[in-house]
Amino acid sequence: MSKNKNTNNINHIPVMLQSVLQILDPKPGQRYLDVTAGYGGHAQAILERTLVPESAVLVDRDQMAIDRLNDVFQGRGVQVFHKDYLSAALELSQKECTFDIVLADLGMSSPHLNIASRGFSFRYDAPLDMRMDQRQELTAATMVNSYSEEDLGEILRLYGEEPKARAIAKLLVAKRPVKTTTELAQIVALAWPGYSKVHPATRTFQALRIAVNDELSLLQSALPVMLDLLAPEGRLAIITFHSLEDRIVKQFFADNAGDRYDSDFRNLTKKPVVPSPDEIVSNPRARSAKLRAVAKIKNQQKGDA
Ligand SMILES: C[S@@+](CC[C@H](N)C(=O)[O-])C[C@H]1O[C@@H](n2cnc3c(N)ncnc32)[C@H](O)[C@@H]1O
Repeated sequence: MSKNKNTNNINHIPVMLQSVLQILDPKPGQRYLDVTAGYGGHAQAILERTLVPESAVLVDRDQMAIDRLNDVFQGRGVQVFHKDYLSAALELSQKECTFDIVLADLGMSSPHLNIASRGFSFRYDAPLDMRMDQRQELTAATMVNSYSEEDLGEILRLYGEEPKARAIAKLLVAKRPVKTTTELAQIVALAWPGYSKVHPATRTFQALRIAVNDELSLLQSALPVMLDLLAPEGRLAIITFHSLEDRIVKQFFADNAGDRYDSDFRNLTKKPVVPSPDEIVSNPRARSAKLRAVAKIKNQQKGDA
């Protein structure tokens, strides 16, 4: 439900917009599903080309993003779903909806990082939150202050690829309660005395954020449903922002759009598309982005592709 807040002062630059348009190749009349519509940057550009907003579904699990989407697309007939993309995709699949274009631009938005109170960044002192969906109960604070040392260590190792996962988990448990982003960053720094360049808390923040939002298992479960939602010749594009996500997408596309003669899908990006150096300069958030895409093969083309 939108609270209809004015969201004009919130900025998010869509990543690799030209490549997304080139690969998805939106055409008039096409049905479009954006499962991480965020602040509507990709959606605006795609809807300018499909010209049928009433056939579009925009999904996000963040209330601020939903407020923006409702502001921008109000009165244009677009359906806006405040849901996680797995629930949204399952609901659409149960209704037997299909789409010509499906886009997932994963991960965090700039407002997640830039609005201190969201607790995603150690650049600002704020309560440890990190929830993308503000309706969710589990926060990073709950995790850090109630999970066992062993579980915290596993989260840091698996989702942060943190070499000192066990040492940091031990410190976190010893220093409880850990209430703020600054406290958390300072505790992690104790495990990395004399660090230089990248702040050592970067990996811990990534790990906790992925765990709080259950990002990898949602992605793993949602990919087959998204593929099922494609109409013949429909295209699915996914933008990832770290190697853990990219590995899942790469493997899934290889399994489903490989070189097998009876494949139902064709890989549109043998290698991932990455941002240009210019884009990285103007939008540093784009630096780790990778775009991969597949297309559903029309039944009669099967085996010819
Ligand atoms: C990188 S931003 C998308 C930006 C968007 N493409 C644009 O141009 O404004 C990612 C968005 O995905 C949302 N998100 C992340 N995981 C999600 C999930 N599992 N289900 C629904 N939305 C999700 C986040 O709340 C965030 O708004």
